[in-house]
Amino acid sequence: MNWAALNAAAKAASEQAYAPYSHFPVGVAVQASSGKIYHGCNVENASYGGTVCAERNAIAAAVVAGERKFVALLVYTPQSKLTPPCGICRQVIAEFFMPEAPVASSNHLGQQQSWTLQQLLPDAFTPTYLAASNKINKDS
Ligand code: THU
Repeated sequence: MNWAALNAAAKAASEQAYAPYSHFPVGVAVQASSGKIYHGCNVENASYGGTVCAERNAIAAAVVAGERKFVALLVYTPQSKLTPPCGICRQVIAEFFMPEAPVASSNHLGQQQSWTLQQLLPDAFTPTYLAASNKINKDS
């Protein structure tokens, strides 16, 4: 895992965050199994529920580039308290990452903490539970 590159990409993304309501900028970088790194920032909305987290924007940027498998994710926030992904994002991460994949958080102080996805979302509901349905068998 290229943590230095993930850190740089996540930090750069956080500097583009659109967070006029929370003033809580977040940048996320993901490393795909291709080795490529993609990033995203949080994009808030005047209708607060329209806000999309940095994690989901980073994953969406990679998916539109053709990626489907990921090996690491890093959340960067300029906060002294290291920020883990929110619950909705943990579910979206579980769609594309193995349970053992590292999900890390870093900050402007150079601190970093790492979990596995499994630690953050045990017993995740994943596409495997839909395997019996006709639809997913047709689509995959
Ligand atoms: N946010 C993220 O982008 N990722 C997280 O992991 C935590 C929360 C954003 C959503 C909102 O724009 C702001 O941070 C405050 O919740």
